[in-house]
Amino acid sequence: MSANPLAPAWLHVPADADALAEGVWSAAAARDAAGEIAIGGVGAPELVERYGSPVYVVDEADARSRARRIAEAFRVAFERVGTGVAVYYAGKAFLCAEVARWMAEGGLRLDVASRGELAVALAAGFPAARIGVHGNNKSVAQLEAAVEAGVGAIVIDAEIEIERLAGIALRRGVVQPVRLRINSGVHASTHEYLATSHEDQKFGVTIEDAPRLVAAIRAQPGLRFLGLHSHLGSQIFGAEGFAEGGRRLLALHASLLDGGEIPELNLGGGFGIAYTAADDPEPIERIADAIAGALAAAAAELGIPLPAVAIEPGRSIIGPAGTTLYTVGTVKPVVVDAPGIPAVRTYVSVDGGMSDNIRPALYRAEYSARIANRRSGAAPVLVRVAGMHCESGDIVVRDEYLPGDVAPGDLLAVPATGAYGWSMASNYNWVPRPPVVAVRDGESRIIVRGESIDDLLARDPGVNAT
Ligand code: LLP
Repeated sequence: MSANPLAPAWLHVPADADALAEGVWSAAAARDAAGEIAIGGVGAPELVERYGSPVYVVDEADARSRARRIAEAFRVAFERVGTGVAVYYAGKAFLCAEVARWMAEGGLRLDVASRGELAVALAAGFPAARIGVHGNNKSVAQLEAAVEAGVGAIVIDAEIEIERLAGIALRRGVVQPVRLRINSGVHASTHEYLATSHEDQKFGVTIEDAPRLVAAIRAQPGLRFLGLHSHLGSQIFGAEGFAEGGRRLLALHASLLDGGEIPELNLGGGFGIAYTAADDPEPIERIADAIAGALAAAAAELGIPLPAVAIEPGRSIIGPAGTTLYTVGTVKPVVVDAPGIPAVRTYVSVDGGMSDNIRPALYRAEYSARIANRRSGAAPVLVRVAGMHCESGDIVVRDEYLPGDVAPGDLLAVPATGAYGWSMASNYNWVPRPPVVAVRDGESRIIVRGESIDDLLARDPGVNAT
């Protein structure tokens, strides 16, 4: 079959539109003997029957093994250059008590970015000393809660936070360990990085301001300076951006050593994953090696010992572990004027959309999809999987080839939705947010309860107010 002229260049007509592309799906996702997609040994139809549709499905073994693999890759790479690594799971990608426990059991630390994320982590029993707190505008209540809990690190993001936090620590008679977030001017995205002297964004402080602010932190008896922090961006496939950002940070770190010891350097998160068969991120072991090598060389050149390093991966741990299941409601071939010839795009509408995954609408993020309740064998057609919300940008998968017999009642599985799906979900159009279900060894269980229409009505005091 030749390509549909409406298809983007990166999307190839699949030889088998039932096949699950390698590297995109969670490790325990596969078609079973009946032709159904099973995740962690549980079939998609069974999951939808039991939990409804849409439903987020998290492959527990996959999430745990990615956490271990990343931690091990960085441990090995940095051990080779003579220093240690702390790995924080970035909870903003997806956090609930169960996931916090998986990360704790994997030996990871946890990064939280709001009062709510901190509350979930503490409620899960995550050790406070292994929690790091972020945010460019942390409320006083949030800082109080973090200091009270005894979190291991708070990232200072603005000058005013130094006094704010020092006051809280002094009043409580504790010394709070802190990092200082630096806007290094290096911003990275999938294949490229941009290095400027001043990046136009809200996070962190400039390299020029850092010496003064570190001195101010060091002058506060209620604060202990742990080191510098930076985060380059997200969904980064290679190591060059991390290496360049790391070099800049390490040069600043070296210049601050006169004022006292600095035990660590935090490089943030941002390691990319495959959302479609066209995505090909470098293996994390190679990235870890390249970053370790670049930092070791920079430290040697600066004549300083390499500090302990911290990283904060979110997406690369939980993203591929998640799959969303939807039910097809309508299938509509739409004739579109393509250059030269009219072409058909088949709109496949499902029962979720931008309320459970805002990423395609917000970032034009690409995803992929497969029919999950059966093997088809029909010739592929170009589809756009659309949601059920009242706006045309409500897209679940912008471009994909699915078997041409895709029909109402079919289930669609969209892989790699574990990160920034549920965590950025909304109630747009008063749509209840779906549950999150963990699967493992043929068993499934709810790890975040879904909302019902009654839950939504309960939040509107005008309901039954007459
Ligand atoms: N550390 C800091 C300071 C961060 O700001 C972030 C993400 C991370 C770590 C984790 O990054 P990851 O490894 O998950 O890429 N909502 C966007 C991504 C925003 C990420 C914000 N910060 C998305 O859906 O692509």
